[in-house]
Amino acid sequence: MHIVGARPNFVKAAPVVAALEARGVRQSVVHTGQHYDDRMSAVFFRELGLPRPDVDLGVGSGSHAVQTAALMTGLEQEFISRSPGLVVVYGDVNSTLAAGVVAAKLHIPVAHVEAGLRSFDWSMPEEVNRRLTDQLSDLCFATSPEAVGHLAAEGVGVHRVHLVGNPMIDTLLGSLDRFDTAALRERLKLPESYVAATLHRPANVDDPEVVARLVARLHEVADQIDVVMPVHPRGRAALTEAGLADHPRMHLLEPLGYIDFVTLVRASTAVVTDSGGVQEETTILRVPCLTLRPNTERPITITHGSNRLVTDSELPGLVSKILAGESFGAATVADVPPLWDGHAGERIAAILADWMAGAPAAGAEPRA
Ligand code: UD1
Ligand code: UDP
Repeated sequence: MHIVGARPNFVKAAPVVAALEARGVRQSVVHTGQHYDDRMSAVFFRELGLPRPDVDLGVGSGSHAVQTAALMTGLEQEFISRSPGLVVVYGDVNSTLAAGVVAAKLHIPVAHVEAGLRSFDWSMPEEVNRRLTDQLSDLCFATSPEAVGHLAAEGVGVHRVHLVGNPMIDTLLGSLDRFDTAALRERLKLPESYVAATLHRPANVDDPEVVARLVARLHEVADQIDVVMPVHPRGRAALTEAGLADHPRMHLLEPLGYIDFVTLVRASTAVVTDSGGVQEETTILRVPCLTLRPNTERPITITHGSNRLVTDSELPGLVSKILAGESFGAATVADVPPLWDGHAGERIAAILADWMAGAPAAGAEPRA
């Protein structure tokens, strides 16, 4: 039983579900309803070939405690009534942690896709979700070698950990022939060259003072090049209030579906973001990525990719350097991260299928 609830979950789950389907494994998909707008949820099911969820718990938004409690209550009923043999959770959102806790207490094995990422920043809700989910998981699927090291350092038994690559990149590579830049430019009336921007981290969009500063910096970027920004619902009110739209070269959009969004990124001059997934996608697309954060749980996107952590005050200057054609990024390795090759879903499915058949692959070790 796959548990998904928020936008990045859908992108990660699609290749795993498809690969298990190809092996004839019986599976179900539970949508928690953490994200619910069509543009944050249903569009991904339509575009990524995900099966219609067997159930949508309709949990919706709320404070962390309210949302997590509703997630746990809904998932507990679901797990009891359907008795899944294994629960698969994705990433680091509240739906991930809630499913892990509930399954573990019902003695249902848990597999965590994208285990072991660490920002070492406990002020991020995602860091709490990741660390606890990994402790609860019988199978930890890691996207990068340093994630394997983090799990080992935290005492997660080596037999539970599998380095499998990155299913989000499976989705990207599997969609390459669908990214039609010319059609998107025409449909969205995009400028010839532009920076694509996304912001949704609480540290960037929840505090009005921080938001005002970021809006001023984005306007300094827009003084140099058009900025196209699909606005996440979390930051919408604060960014609007701070006057984000009040610049002739700022183009604000509703959240985009996956194909439109990656097409937008692929054709951009550079990206400004605080998204986890976008740091990974730009690593493969080799688009300069300016990440407005003091840390990242995905350092491999810096060493093997086009990502760089930046402060808001550095942003306009770095954009002007990119526009002047100066080399960008700190990548010390020319290759993309190991196993980010489009086959992570198949590796995960193979391990899961063996595990469920009672013949744990590479020593996968049931915890219960
Ligand atoms: C969540 C994840 C974050 C992830 C992000 C991906 C947690 C703690 N955070 O953040 O790790 O990077 O998803 O996008 O799980 N809203 C809508 N429509 C929707 C969904 C949300 O308007 O379909 C608005 C609501 O006002 C809600 C707010 O967005 O209160 C935040 O939603 P929530 O799911 O709590 O967290 P995100 O900020 O989206
Ligand atoms: N994404 C999208 N439309 C958008 C913004 C992002 O389809 O308008 C995709 C993006 O390509 C990536 C995923 O959503 O695959 C990442 O989600 P998000 O940034 O919301 O979450 P995070 O990765 O930070 O947890």
